[in-house]
Amino acid sequence: MSENAEDKAGSIPAQSDGAEAGPAGETSGTATLTKDAAPGEILLKVTGLQKHFPIKKGLFQRQVGAVRAVDGIDFEVRSGETLGVVGESGCGKSTMGRLITRLLEPTAGAIEFEGKDITHLGVSGMRPMRRDVQMIFQDPYSSLNPRHTIGTIVGAPFRLQGVEPEGGVKKEVQRLLSVVGLNPEHYNRYPHEFSGGQRQRIGIARALALKPKLVVADEPVSALDVSIQAQVVNLMDDLQEELGLTYVIIAHDLSVVRHVSDRIAVMYLGKIVELADRESLYKAPMHPYTKALMSAVPIPDPARKNAKSERILLKGDVPSPISPPSGCRFHTRCWKATEICRTTEPALLELRPGQRVACHHPENFEDQAPQDTVLLTAAKEAAELVADEVLAESAETSAAVAAELAEEAAAEEPASEEPASEETASEEVAASEETPSEEAASAETAEASAPESGSQESTDK
Ligand SMILES: Nc1ncnc2c1ncn2[C@@H]1O[C@H](COP(=O)(O)OP(=O)(O)OP(=O)(O)O)[C@@H](O)[C@H]1O
Ligand code: SF4
Ligand SMILES: [Mg+2]
Repeated sequence: MSENAEDKAGSIPAQSDGAEAGPAGETSGTATLTKDAAPGEILLKVTGLQKHFPIKKGLFQRQVGAVRAVDGIDFEVRSGETLGVVGESGCGKSTMGRLITRLLEPTAGAIEFEGKDITHLGVSGMRPMRRDVQMIFQDPYSSLNPRHTIGTIVGAPFRLQGVEPEGGVKKEVQRLLSVVGLNPEHYNRYPHEFSGGQRQRIGIARALALKPKLVVADEPVSALDVSIQAQVVNLMDDLQEELGLTYVIIAHDLSVVRHVSDRIAVMYLGKIVELADRESLYKAPMHPYTKALMSAVPIPDPARKNAKSERILLKGDVPSPISPPSGCRFHTRCWKATEICRTTEPALLELRPGQRVACHHPENFEDQAPQDTVLLTAAKEAAELVADEVLAESAETSAAVAAELAEEAAAEEPASEEPASEETASEEVAASEETPSEEAASAETAEASAPESGSQESTDK
């Protein structure tokens, strides 16, 4: 874990730098963000958000391509909730976090905070919003300036925003330190005198200084020892309850977010592939990628005592976001991929209430492309890495759901369709009376071929 942390440390600048930096060359605007969002109301709304980092080459720095780090995502964050964002390294989680906190300028799409469009707000327009939206970074070692005392670091937001708290900055900073479980007497100490967990508490205290509404925490505990992780996660949980905070918590695995998240967004190669409330996601994940991620999380559930053997190993690495695979981006690693997955990008659809998924052949649900049954070669190879029990269970649950839905549909039919069947019957009588048998036969053929050509069309789209 520490090796991993070191890898990423370089890419994450100090919060004070980031909070100050406004994206260059943008137009300035203003936003009055005084109205509090009621609990459950949409605090943040993201539509079609994209961030493509240009790749430039040669003397003239010509753009030769782009890293499609975030490639068209839609989601919303409701006031008072915790949205967990998970996905493998490089799938665009941090970029997404930096876009919604406006530390990065989006390539396309829109971001609304409390109903106001903040997508392209400039430095001055963003100032009021900086108080409302704060970020906690992954690495508590590189995100705290080693030359500043804890008092200076935690008090910085007050100075930057020109805010004078009641009783003065020092008193408020000491209060914040005790809120996050640190000794207020350590006000004059330097970061190197604190452990990793304590430093992350300092980062949290700094983020909370201006009483933000939304806190985006990018891997807040992954640089910490496992024994300390739970303490920091619990602290964040308690603070949310006490202060009514809204969180977006980014993590690369589900174990960190599973206790704290109300809803979870699963990202893969710059896209959200599944977005659901925690219960649904754990009980019945619908995207094969979610299922694979979940299988790696040990769940102390006696009903799943064989969980270890059900672990799904994914084939190969995440493909490059410079030229992501066609159709469904997961098709090169998915054990269920068929031709439609290679050609057609699945839309993120709400297949169950509160559960959105982008997949043609979802788990625990009826098939969205049942006519497409031949597995791709890559899928056959990927299936070899998936335990037989998982494949069997997957087929079983999907079939059970399909049967359930068919039963429901059949139960609903008599009431709503009885008049229709009467009509059909009388039409049939009329047809048999008026139409010569050959004409009737050709009409039948036309009818029978119509749905087929329709489904063919949808396959080829
Ligand atoms: N400033 C940048 N310039 C060019 N490419 C970038 C930049 N920042 C990120 N990327 C690329 O965008 C992709 C997404 O990166 P990002 O840091 O958002 O991923 P992540 O999901 O947070 O990964 P990790 O779990 O490793 O932190 C990666 O391929 C990364 O190399
Ligand atoms: S079944 Fe197809 S659409 Fe669904 S995740 Fe696999 S490759 Fe993507
Ligand atoms: Mg990251």
